[in-house]
Amino acid sequence: MASHLGCKQLSRTEQNSWESDIRDREVVESALDGIDVVFHEAAYGGYMPEISKFVAVNSLGTAQLLEIVREKNLAIRKIIVASSQVVYPEGAGECPQHGLVFPGLRPVEQLRRGDFSVRCPACQIPTKSVPTPEFAPLGGENGLRNHKGGSGKTRAHVG
Ligand SMILES: NC(=O)c1ccc[n+]([C@@H]2O[C@H](COP(=O)([O-])OP(=O)(O)OC[C@H]3O[C@@H](n4cnc5c(N)ncnc54)[C@H](O)[C@@H]3O)[C@@H](O)[C@H]2O)c1
Ligand SMILES: [Zn+2]
Repeated sequence: MASHLGCKQLSRTEQNSWESDIRDREVVESALDGIDVVFHEAAYGGYMPEISKFVAVNSLGTAQLLEIVREKNLAIRKIIVASSQVVYPEGAGECPQHGLVFPGLRPVEQLRRGDFSVRCPACQIPTKSVPTPEFAPLGGENGLRNHKGGSGKTRAHVG
């Protein structure tokens, strides 16, 4: 059985279907009862101005879910968490000299000059964009990245 929390209005529409707020500890506890796989897709915002709500729903909501699983020693086998490409600053690049590289964020000064190329961190040659593998290092400098990177690391520790 899988659990999927979404929407904010609390109601039990059918025996195995819950619509609730992920911040509501009691409801999350009930929803996790007897579950072995969790697909965690509940999320608020992205680049929204309501920062505290963003953190409460996304970070606290995820942390509390993991906490409940751990505290109650639930028999959850897997938690599937939707991450984001934002955790991988500019994604992977291919440098003619250094092969697969993982450039950090482009400096503001470079962008102000109108140079939007993603350059190799070792030799500064513009890279060719290539698919980003999952083992790419985490980075970035915004709230979404902090939440996504943080929940990914927490999940790894819990699991
Ligand atoms: N859509 C994309 O392109 C994309 C890309 C990368 C990552 N993601 C990630 O996928 C996840 C889901 O995003 P999405 O695009 O499906 O967004 P979405 O807004 O379509 O879905 C989020 C769901 O969460 C629900 N929700 C909001 N606040 C809630 C709360 N307090 N309690 C319970 N549910 C709540 C919303 O009602 C909605 O049903 C997010 O973590 C997002 O960062 C999405
Ligand atoms: Zn290089």
